[in-house]
Amino acid sequence: MESKICFFLSIIFLCLVSLKANTLQTYVVQLHPHPTTSSLFTSKRDWHLSFLEQTISSDSEDPSSRLLYSYHSAMEGFAAQISESELETLKRLPDVIAVRPDRRLQLHTTYSYKFLGLDPTRGSTWYNAGFGRGTIIGVLDTGVWPESPSFNDHGMPPVPKKWKGICQEGQSFNSSNCNRKLIGARFFIKGHRVASTSPDNVQEYVSPRDSSGHGTHTSSTAGGTSVPMASVLGNGAGVARGMAPFAHIAVYKVCWFSGCYSSDILAAMDVAIRDGVDILSLSLGGFPLPLFEDSIAIGSFRAMENGISVICAAGNNGPIQSSVANEAPWIATIGASTMDRRFPAIVQMGNGQALYGESLYPGNRPMNSVKELELVYLTSGDVGSQFCLRGSLPKAKVRGKIVVCDRGVNGRAEKGEVVKEAGGAAMILTNTEINLEEDSVDVHVLPATLVGFDESIRLKAYINSTKRPIGRIQFGGTLIAKSRAPAVAQFSARGPSFSNPSILKPDVIAPGVNIIAAWPQNLGPTGLREDTRRVNYTVMSGTSMACPHVSGIAALIHSTHPRWTAAAVKSAIMTTADVTDHSGRSIMDGDKPAGVFAIGAGQVNPIRAVDPGLIYDIRPDEYVTHLCTLGYTKSEIFAITHRNVSCPEVLQMNRGFSLNYPSISVMFKHGMRSKMIRRRLTNVGSPNSIYSLEVDAPEGVRVRVKPQRLVFTRRNQILSYKVRILSSKRTGTETMSFAQGHLTWVNSQNGLYRVKSPISVTWKK
Ligand SMILES: *[C@@H]1O[C@H](CO)[C@@H](O)[C@H](O)[C@H]1NC(C)=O
Ligand SMILES: *[C@@H]1O[C@H](CO)[C@@H](O)[C@H](O)[C@H]1NC(C)=O
Ligand SMILES: *[C@@H]1O[C@H](CO)[C@@H](O)[C@H](O)[C@H]1NC(C)=O
Ligand SMILES: *[C@@H]1O[C@H](CO)[C@@H](O)[C@H](O)[C@H]1NC(C)=O
Repeated sequence: MESKICFFLSIIFLCLVSLKANTLQTYVVQLHPHPTTSSLFTSKRDWHLSFLEQTISSDSEDPSSRLLYSYHSAMEGFAAQISESELETLKRLPDVIAVRPDRRLQLHTTYSYKFLGLDPTRGSTWYNAGFGRGTIIGVLDTGVWPESPSFNDHGMPPVPKKWKGICQEGQSFNSSNCNRKLIGARFFIKGHRVASTSPDNVQEYVSPRDSSGHGTHTSSTAGGTSVPMASVLGNGAGVARGMAPFAHIAVYKVCWFSGCYSSDILAAMDVAIRDGVDILSLSLGGFPLPLFEDSIAIGSFRAMENGISVICAAGNNGPIQSSVANEAPWIATIGASTMDRRFPAIVQMGNGQALYGESLYPGNRPMNSVKELELVYLTSGDVGSQFCLRGSLPKAKVRGKIVVCDRGVNGRAEKGEVVKEAGGAAMILTNTEINLEEDSVDVHVLPATLVGFDESIRLKAYINSTKRPIGRIQFGGTLIAKSRAPAVAQFSARGPSFSNPSILKPDVIAPGVNIIAAWPQNLGPTGLREDTRRVNYTVMSGTSMACPHVSGIAALIHSTHPRWTAAAVKSAIMTTADVTDHSGRSIMDGDKPAGVFAIGAGQVNPIRAVDPGLIYDIRPDEYVTHLCTLGYTKSEIFAITHRNVSCPEVLQMNRGFSLNYPSISVMFKHGMRSKMIRRRLTNVGSPNSIYSLEVDAPEGVRVRVKPQRLVFTRRNQILSYKVRILSSKRTGTETMSFAQGHLTWVNSQNGLYRVKSPISVTWKK
């Protein structure tokens, strides 16, 4: 008897093992770009298939059924479905450099252009930069809603001659959906299709058409056309306009309801490089990874070599330290900041006190208010009722009342639905210790407001103080508040960089809270189809919203200086960023002044970025040398750069090398006390320009700069300087400590140009 059970068990065990060994998984296979084996094949695709022919165990199977993509611009290689037992064979084949499992990544206004100081009148910088004219922004996201007024091509210049992209047909999408504004659209679904477990009945357009809204929002933020009187249900009405309203947009749909697969992303980057984009905007990512395992880092290296600026969201995992993603030095990594636009919705409590809250409820005509009702906050009883989770609110307890829900666990819009379904009349969302005073305005299905952490304590104390707490919500429309802005968004991912602390990340911050931009016309403002209200614009928050602001600014710079490298464009954005808010004081992060690991070089300033005076340029070779200084192995460097380098030789030839980055980051460890850094500046301002130095030294170090003056006599002249940073502090008992400062080159003739770099110093035991 006993042996029989064992027999059954072992059969099951064997079945499980063989199932696992035969289950197909997607891998991205990287090949040698100068191969020994490809000359035998007529096409790259045939060559790629030959690897599968040698790998696949079954003779009857057609290898092309396993091949998802052939890459050759972003990377040499292919994506294919391979079983675990075949994997070892594949890895051993000549010319195979690396095999990486496919990774699933996530997606991380009418008013923001004014907030950033852009002025559309004749003679202004924005006007002179041609609003991004002639530049093509490629957006990798969830696709686009082409009928949105933001993608109207009225007054747009013709499609640039260099453009080689297409308008790919698919479900509810054909070539008539592209125009001179939206010049290209493609979708990449193979990686998603083989990996996704989501049922087929999930309604999602198999085409470039946007099913979720995210991609429509981000692409219109980067390059949407001017639309007068754009608003969300009457809130925030004004002209909606992207940062670069005359730039062309090409969308590459790589994100689906289940996420964004790296095999699809790489395929999109591969094609976008050949299509001829100037800027790539990626509001997506995962957790920080070593650069040689990160397909976005690898694909963007090739893009950078082709002169394309790659702009990525830093991620929404802040304020946790070292949460910043997309941190390769050739990428511009963007954090999020708040704006000064407010949507007040005040809570009047029965005790006569008022709490400041914000909301975008459609009833938000000035001074509209919900009538006085009972307040309820359910902390005991059902688990999850304080968060208003689905099924947690007993109808008898919430019917007709204003329900208080804590932020967290489920989505904010979902909490509103849950309250409405349970018969609640209105909702007050309360920030917790994690969100502090940060506002995040959403469109809700019922009257609602959101209050900060301090207010939430007062609200809950009042509810607890009386048998029958009452209150009402008073809506005040849109107003421009006097409060301090920009400030760092709490969710914005923070440095120091996990993969490479010698580069300060994020690079800059840009508006990413309560951003109003275009929206699919078949979705409610909360993103739900069941919500029958229809809008052309809605409000969203995230580093996803900050990234396309910078992509648009990069387009403005590119259009003014078409020959600049991606490094020069990024330098212009970084050295002109603001470290003070509109009140002239430090940008805040919660209740403290923001550090460089939150804001990098600061808040983008598009007017100054178009005319930076000096730039820190970087040649592609220099990134390779930089990777050598990080101690990466030959094969790791090869995987990223496709270059065969001998680091001992490279380092021998480049003694004392430092990457010419627009910010400075040094780490003192093992009792090291001094560090020498080199930089070189290219004059892109007037031929005769004299710059002098201003240093705000970080605490605990002395900063010596040589020379102290830079005298340029012609345009494009390059001058170098050295910075010695001397630590006057012993590495303490703490495991880690930080200090920060700035180094600024100031044009002393007119004081107009201030070329500023943040300095971060880290001591590690
Ligand atoms: C695209 O689709 C629309 C609507 O279905 C149709 O009217 C139009 O003729 C189509 N255009 C092309 C080029 O197929
Ligand atoms: C509510 O009041 C009671 C008694 O006054 C107190 O013990 C309790 O901690 C209070 N709860 C909250 C959430 O403030
Ligand atoms: C959205 O835009 C379209 C096209 O401009 C317009 O016809 C429609 O009325 C707009 N819808 C709303 C809700 O404003
Ligand atoms: C790299 O170059 C060395 C010689 O410089 C050569 O021996 C080696 O085979 C090359 N490796 C690759 C992967 O090309």
